[in-house]
Amino acid sequence: MNSAPLKNLAIIMDGNGRWAKERGLSRTKGHEAGAETIRDITTYCAKHPEIETATFYAFSTENWKRPKLEVDFLMKLLSKYLKNELKTYQENGIRFKAIGDIHAFSPALQKRIKETESLTKDNTNLTQILALNYGGRAEITHSVNSLIEEGKTHLTEEDISSALQTPYSDIDLLIRTSGEERISNFLLWQLSYAELSFTSTLWPDFSSKELKSILSSFKNRSRRFGGLK
Ligand code: FPP
Repeated sequence: MNSAPLKNLAIIMDGNGRWAKERGLSRTKGHEAGAETIRDITTYCAKHPEIETATFYAFSTENWKRPKLEVDFLMKLLSKYLKNELKTYQENGIRFKAIGDIHAFSPALQKRIKETESLTKDNTNLTQILALNYGGRAEITHSVNSLIEEGKTHLTEEDISSALQTPYSDIDLLIRTSGEERISNFLLWQLSYAELSFTSTLWPDFSSKELKSILSSFKNRSRRFGGLK
């Protein structure tokens, strides 16, 4: 039996480009299909009472290195996604939150992110967190600097946890799609005791059926958190 419930789920969505290539499509088609998958998985999580947050790695600090055309496309897709998603958020009781440094985005996109956060802030079934221009090391560094600026000279783990951008300090389960088995600078602090699940499915093909099966195998894992049982 599990010693802790599954409250906080994190997902590294990988494989949009390969999914498109396999079909002779442009990479952007893969990202569009990937955005649909985020909707399906988020809606599924909102109906799963145990899950409180689902955090998706949507744009890493390293993703700026991609060709400008692809970066521009991802920005437009994000803006379109948030606009279209409002109905889904409200109908399914989903609160939206962004983590990462969104100041690097256009003022219009920043505004849309802030507005979506504000319009959905009272929804309670699930918090969907999109990591945008996010890096785990940057988040920890930012947390420590903000505590130093407050005048703290000695930090505890609780201090650092409480100054992170996420509303939780621990992820229970991390899923990464597309067969890569790396953390890629995602939620470094919060993943300390997470169970890890890697699947070869490419993100656009990932389904709530597969998620359901991963969640049931998570239930059978024994989480010891360094203890004996
Ligand atoms: C990885 O695929 C995917 C990303 C760049 C991040 C996830 C982005 C999306 C799902 C697009 C839509 C997001 C939102 C929030 C609207 P990849 O391009 O690295 O795939 P590859 O490794 O096969 O090339």
